[in-house]
Amino acid sequence: MAAQVLIVEDVSVKGSNPAGGVISVWTLNRPDKLNALNSQSHSAIKDQCVRVESDDNVRCVVIRGALPEEQPEEGKRPKPPAFAAGADISEFVGKNADDVRAFFEDNAWEAVWNISKPTIAMVDGFALGGGTELALSCDIRIASDRSKFGQPEINLGLIPGGGGTQRLCRLIGYGKTMEIVLSGGMISAEEALRMGIVNRLVSPEDLDSSTMALAEEIARKSPYVTKVAKRAVRGALDLPFSEGVLMERSEFVALFDTEDKEIGVRAFLERSDPEWVGR
Ligand code: COA
Repeated sequence: MAAQVLIVEDVSVKGSNPAGGVISVWTLNRPDKLNALNSQSHSAIKDQCVRVESDDNVRCVVIRGALPEEQPEEGKRPKPPAFAAGADISEFVGKNADDVRAFFEDNAWEAVWNISKPTIAMVDGFALGGGTELALSCDIRIASDRSKFGQPEINLGLIPGGGGTQRLCRLIGYGKTMEIVLSGGMISAEEALRMGIVNRLVSPEDLDSSTMALAEEIARKSPYVTKVAKRAVRGALDLPFSEGVLMERSEFVALFDTEDKEIGVRAFLERSDPEWVGR
């Protein structure tokens, strides 16, 4: 039987309210190919995006890459760790624009970007091309200090096709994006932190616990309000400033009609933990 290209584990969150909250952890599982994203990976990710939208228990999504075997098969060289080393280049051979248009119009990068719940990329190793783009489609990026980022598509006679030019530009600005996209060079974890591509760097040993601790912290908030918060911040990318401020105010005011606002405010005053109801 073929190995699953995406392993999904829903990790329960103690103390989440409403009870039953989970963090959905998705592991890209093609470590021999540095977790390159092939059409099966795209389908599996898109299926999970649909699933988490309709599952109220999912409070946060974490995306990671499977690590290679520590002991490679005899005679083979060890593979490096990767989040994802890009789109699967072998699927590009001999394809023309008509062959790839439909695939790129309905891809996993946009599906992840459009999840209404908080998403975190846990990056350990290479995140190149579509790998960087997948991390950019998440809300937050936490990386190990041995990670490497980049958009090497120009070296293949291509440009980023999963939203990289746009999301990177909004995240780190025009000049740095141009350098990354035009040079196709790799960026060290430290540079990525300096530029603002990643939120935090930790050692490979601490990556899992550090990422899951943040995911849990988020998963223990009101699931209704985390979605509103995400929508409001996202508005800053799409709307002119003055419209964005109005949008934020309208979202803020609307929260005064929710039960969770009353629960949160009262819990603060009573010095107790809020027991969110998610509405
Ligand atoms: N698509 C398909 N296969 C890929 C891949 C990709 N994007 N990236 C790596 N692989 C495969 C390699 O073909 C190799 O497979 P094999 O062992 O069956 O021959 C395996 O993953 C390991 O990669 P390898 O190149 O041998 O590792 P390395 O340590 O020498 O180099 C990288 C690591 C990341 C520098 C190199 O793999 C690379 O440049 N990958 C492509 C990155 C890229 O251009 N991404 C953008 C795609 S649009």
